[in-house]
Amino acid sequence: MNELKIVATNDGSSTIFSEKYNQQYHSLHGALQESMHVFIQAGLQFKQTNLKEISILEIGFGTGLNALLTLNEATKSNTKINFTTIEKYPLSTDIIKFLNYGSVISMDNSFALFNQMHACEWNTLTSISNTFYFKKLKMDFENIDFINEFDIIYFDAFAPNAQPELWTISMFEKMFNALKFNGILVTYCAKGEVKRNLKMAGFQIESLNGPVGKREMTRAHKK
Ligand SMILES: C[S@@+](CC[C@H](N)C(=O)[O-])C[C@H]1O[C@@H](n2cnc3c(N)ncnc32)[C@H](O)[C@@H]1O
Repeated sequence: MNELKIVATNDGSSTIFSEKYNQQYHSLHGALQESMHVFIQAGLQFKQTNLKEISILEIGFGTGLNALLTLNEATKSNTKINFTTIEKYPLSTDIIKFLNYGSVISMDNSFALFNQMHACEWNTLTSISNTFYFKKLKMDFENIDFINEFDIIYFDAFAPNAQPELWTISMFEKMFNALKFNGILVTYCAKGEVKRNLKMAGFQIESLNGPVGKREMTRAHKK
């Protein structure tokens, strides 16, 4: 039996259900609205106001939705974005071709750009546009060892009940080290234990209103 299935979410955008993790890649209340709220608005747009160049690390490339939305922001503004994303279990083209992001995001050439990002060589920097530089790393999150490289981390692993090993103090210490001073980590998760672990790793925590269907989300600051 195929362990990955395409699922429709409430805002019309699709996502994937993983039987292995018993998790959706995005909220069923709307994949697009969740990514826009948590990663683009609370992450990128919050930071973008005072920087001409931004480096982003995404934990979990998955469907590529966050990457496509970030590329869209880079196209609309003059900010240069360096986007690095990590993925251990890349999706096959047999499933990617059923995702409808090209039609639900109003952006020129969205289908072609989406396919280009999926087709990019792993571990190689690719210029997708003159404001968007993209690198996919095929590796385990647990082996990350960046130091002071990123302004923003999109922390988009599966939920703590599915992957408790990724929401620990030691993982968040790696995230803290990967960020520059004044960098931020954004996540859809607002669990008390996760916020405590982030704090123990050195972050200052901000609780924000969550996307539709969730009361809260978290923005963590390296100060
Ligand atoms: C919630 S989904 C990510 C959603 C993604 N940001 C998107 O826009 O579709 C979590 C992703 O993390 C990946 N993943 C899970 N465990 C991992 C690990 N230990 N190392 C690297 N990637 C992992 C999964 O394969 C999945 O693609």
